[in-house]
Amino acid sequence: MRKPIIAGNWKLNNTEKEAVDLVTALRNNLNNVTEVDIVVCPVFTVLPVVHDVLLESNIGLGAQNVFWEDFGAFTGEISAPLLKDIGVQYVIIGHSERRQYFGETDEMVNKRTKAALAHGLIPIVCVGEVLAQREENKTFDVIQIQCEGAFAGLTVAEMEKIVIAYEPVWAIGTGKTATPGQAQEVHKFIRGLLAKLYDENISQTIRIQYGGSVKPENSAELMSQPDIDGALVGGASLKAEPFIGIIQNSCSLAQ
Ligand code: 13P
Repeated sequence: MRKPIIAGNWKLNNTEKEAVDLVTALRNNLNNVTEVDIVVCPVFTVLPVVHDVLLESNIGLGAQNVFWEDFGAFTGEISAPLLKDIGVQYVIIGHSERRQYFGETDEMVNKRTKAALAHGLIPIVCVGEVLAQREENKTFDVIQIQCEGAFAGLTVAEMEKIVIAYEPVWAIGTGKTATPGQAQEVHKFIRGLLAKLYDENISQTIRIQYGGSVKPENSAELMSQPDIDGALVGGASLKAEPFIGIIQNSCSLAQ
């Protein structure tokens, strides 16, 4: 039985005060939750204050990116040992916004994933097709290329630590959610691919989140699909109420 994991990707949002207010509300309202792993992924600058609010809580802390080198002349970058040093546990890698606006390639995603794993961070690796690819029936091809690129050279033991997020790009921030059937179909495909690339055990134990306009109104139906193990939530994670609603829906399903 896979434990669902629900992560909030705050993207480029929340000042220090807004961040502290939000995680204080989450901590106070979600302290009894054990059925679901909960993670928040703030911007780099507020990671330390958010970390302090979440100390000894059941809410994990994630970053939104990580560089592949540890130290050196790489102006503006943040590395895995630095994130680990301030108590970060997870890191989002290969988000479609990084691929789209910052030229991220599957090779970079692979290097970031390896660096995260080498320092004990849990990578949340994002994959997903754009609308034109879906319309040309290339979704499975695109997902396969992204997965093979992202996971190249990883051992079975490393794969066991990874979380995958399937985020159809056309559903991100658009209010258009993939139907539960559309999402399930791709999640099942990813699981089948992992069985081929690794083994049946990995394919059954790895958690695959769905992301793209997830909100309390649609989360229960999405998460009741057999191969959907949680959500990577953007807009609806910026306010306590909808994010808590998504988590509570998932808890009711897990019972
Ligand atoms: P939205 O939930 O705002 O569509 O964003 C999804 C996302 O990109 C999470 O990483």
